[in-house]
Amino acid sequence: MRLQLSTWAEAEAYLAEKDGIIIPIGSTEQHGPNGLIGTDALMADAIAIEVAARADAMVAPVISVGMAQHHMAFSGSMTLRPTTLIQVMRDNVLSLAKHGFRRFYFLNGHGGNISTINTAFQEIHADASLDGGQGGINCVLRNWWIGPEVKKLSAELYGDKEGYHATPSEVSVTQYLFPNDIKSVPMEPAPKQPPRIGDAMDYRNRYPDGRMSSDPSLATPEAGARIFEASVDFLVGDYLEFAAAE
Ligand code: NI
Repeated sequence: MRLQLSTWAEAEAYLAEKDGIIIPIGSTEQHGPNGLIGTDALMADAIAIEVAARADAMVAPVISVGMAQHHMAFSGSMTLRPTTLIQVMRDNVLSLAKHGFRRFYFLNGHGGNISTINTAFQEIHADASLDGGQGGINCVLRNWWIGPEVKKLSAELYGDKEGYHATPSEVSVTQYLFPNDIKSVPMEPAPKQPPRIGDAMDYRNRYPDGRMSSDPSLATPEAGARIFEASVDFLVGDYLEFAAAE
């Protein structure tokens, strides 16, 4: 069930039975020569919508701009400061908590969001602990790629060409989801370099075309379909466990 496609009465009826919601969170940032700028947000949203459909759960609107300051030397990238993203997450959670949602399953598409998301959870709990804010809120973070089958597939398909950013796995999934937007861009395999994140100019100097040790020219929509399915399959079970826990 998508919150955006529900009426208030449908949301109220859902809340009479359940208190869980999936919140997709991504990023809007460069994804190398052939990857879409929206990759992380588009994927988190599509996976969350499918998980919600199969788990009979509610899914919130995607938080589509994340913490991507290190990509800002590439045209089109957008970022929130960590402190801003924390406030955006906090207001999203507290709005929903006001209506009775208590379990928040953040389905994340971007590695660069992870530390900020965890800090936001602490900030949300601090509201209840210090100011008598809304208690009983339970937030978890799940990255789309955590399922063991996802990791296995990426390793089988791409091995050490997977790299760390603008990976063939994520580009494959967006090719599956948006077949009209597949880009054909000639490229050489990126040199192998350890992942290191500093500021935006440092990133561009280190990774001139935006990739980190990956070869996204290997991406195919067929692989994307398999990776998408493996991700959804794992997360449905994981969400249902989270929603049913005491
Ligand atoms: Ni990404």
